[in-house]
Amino acid sequence: MGQLILDVDTGVDDALALMVAARHADWNLRAVTCVAGNTSLEGVVRNTLTVLDAVGATDVPVAAGAARPLLGEPRDAGHVHGSDGLADLGWPRSARAPEAIHAVELLRREILASPEPVTLVPLAPMTNIALLLRTYPEVAANIGRIVFMGGSASAGNASPVAEFNVWHDPEAAQIVISSGLPVTMYGLDVFYSAAVEAPDIELLLKADDAGCRLSGQLLSHLARVNGDDFRLKLPGSAGLGDAGAVCAVIDPEGLETSELRVEVSLSSSLTRGQTVVDQRTKASEATLPHGHLSRDSIDVALGVDGRRYAALFLDTIRSHDGK
Ligand code: RIB
Ligand code: CA
Repeated sequence: MGQLILDVDTGVDDALALMVAARHADWNLRAVTCVAGNTSLEGVVRNTLTVLDAVGATDVPVAAGAARPLLGEPRDAGHVHGSDGLADLGWPRSARAPEAIHAVELLRREILASPEPVTLVPLAPMTNIALLLRTYPEVAANIGRIVFMGGSASAGNASPVAEFNVWHDPEAAQIVISSGLPVTMYGLDVFYSAAVEAPDIELLLKADDAGCRLSGQLLSHLARVNGDDFRLKLPGSAGLGDAGAVCAVIDPEGLETSELRVEVSLSSSLTRGQTVVDQRTKASEATLPHGHLSRDSIDVALGVDGRRYAALFLDTIRSHDGK
């Protein structure tokens, strides 16, 4: 049984990721930690508890973490996720309270208590993860891999060159990328390629199971707000977003990665938050003194079998539907 911890800014696509992580039979979702990003920290905690209730994962501990990035102010993504961060669906809110400890303490507790190395899946600005690694470096011994949704080897979304999670807290992202742990970057280069098609969304909307219906409503919202995004291949489809990163943990064979050097631009200029990915193949160029990046190489996702992950998502979500 794989041991999983998600760090989220729920968020419509974080919600889809939580559902897959909670429902897959081969993985134990040990904990979920929350950080400000798509919406406020309070909203992220509320949304996370609501989604876990909807899929029956009422025993998974949730804790609140950073309400803002290490530097600068929080900046939300209400234009994508709605004013409440969960597509303004009005879904019944959870009565459950989060743990009375900080996210960093919950992360430390659950990582050290795990019987085998944990796969840590940040799907948000990485402020909590950076604080964890700096506060309790000893936890690294029981982290098998960090698979984060963030960054881009090509165009950005929050800016022309920066992806939202890294753009929101570039310093935190650099701390994680340069941690020396095994790291997979699930960035915008693959983020849009795993999508659920319109007919499957319709079937989810009609399901008996509440979790299936919620996922259908969230996917319908994404199809509406992202429908004009040229990076979505099929009309009426909805990208899995963060849920694709969880699929990459469950089924890594569906992802094509390259071990590349990556460094985050920390400048206050136009490039702040850009993940500079060194794809130069000619060894002599890559070692030029003036042109080298940090020493750290991580596994950068450059291709994904989107249909494979869409099928994995649907099979996992529907595994609890009576129909
Ligand atoms: O850039 C996309 C990422 O930013 C996703 O994780 C989305 O939920 C937002 O957090
Ligand atoms: Ca997210």
